[in-house]
Amino acid sequence: MRLININDVEIGSVIAKPVYDSKLSLLINRGTVLSEMLVKKLIQADIRHLYIDDELSKGVELDPMISDEIKLQAIVSMKSIYDSQTIKHDKNTEEVREGTIKELKDIVDDIITEIYAKNEHKYYSTELMGAEMYHYNHAVEVMILSLLIGKRMGLDREKLLKLGMGAILADIGKVKVPSEILNKKGKLDVEEFEEMKRHVDYSYHILKDLVSLSSLSRQIVLLHHEKLDGSGYPNGFVGDQIPLLVRIVTMCDIFSAIVSDRTYNNRISVDTAIEILRSATPSKLDQDVFLALMQVIDVYPPGTLVELSNEKIAIVISNNPNSPTRPVLKQIDNGAQIDMLQELTLFIKKVLSRLP
Ligand SMILES: [Fe+2]
Repeated sequence: MRLININDVEIGSVIAKPVYDSKLSLLINRGTVLSEMLVKKLIQADIRHLYIDDELSKGVELDPMISDEIKLQAIVSMKSIYDSQTIKHDKNTEEVREGTIKELKDIVDDIITEIYAKNEHKYYSTELMGAEMYHYNHAVEVMILSLLIGKRMGLDREKLLKLGMGAILADIGKVKVPSEILNKKGKLDVEEFEEMKRHVDYSYHILKDLVSLSSLSRQIVLLHHEKLDGSGYPNGFVGDQIPLLVRIVTMCDIFSAIVSDRTYNNRISVDTAIEILRSATPSKLDQDVFLALMQVIDVYPPGTLVELSNEKIAIVISNNPNSPTRPVLKQIDNGAQIDMLQELTLFIKKVLSRLP
């Protein structure tokens, strides 16, 4: 199984993971053989990447830490909250809002249980819903990644719940940002960006007075765009003014955004995302959080095509848990297996989107 850009897919490839449309209805199920007509349908639904089974990826298995069912359920809940006209127009009673918080707490709690059960797994994103679904999926991704980092950094379960709640609610104020700005295909102009930044204020108004939401979760929502050097918003806080739990969510928010298909941008590879975050650390982003992120994700998820320093092309089969940049590979030309922990003179030159 491997992730491939829809423009590189070959007719006759087999779908390895279900694909959903923007209403979260099943578009194509696992096992479907791709025809030209299906590819057209997927492009129309703004699906830009697919998981496929093909000759190249034979023997590559993806065993996601969070099952697709649990994740889908969380995304469905987020979509219904975003779609709720009552939240959008301030017509919801406190009782309704408390009910929403309770629903989200159950979701976060289920994910925490799953994370404890699958301790040894690494995380990688497996969403397949097209860019239109970005905002719901993003909220769930940021929550999962934040929990993984929080657990890695030694937070207890009670703190994890508060962290997860802050993470999943961080962008809730975006329900009030006009959808032509939220889902704009091009770059936002200065005014539009100012409106987008206001989602933090909107979140504050939606969540204020909710007794069941902890002050830590609220703090995460209010401060998740602050940067350590003061270049963030809305307050321009620096260093110690930004608590650890906020720093975790900030890192995950940026990471998840750049490795996802968004309306105005296609996803970029995890290793490139890591380099972008590294360059912002420790000036803007927290060094310890960055190191923890490196421990909980696959820098080269299974199925990634890479060019090696010896010019050979290989596909990633699995990862070495304590060496995120030295995975186990299969060389394409002769099928030989290479454990990069044994071949220390070899390094990955770059990630390829397709065979040259
Ligand atoms: Fe945000």
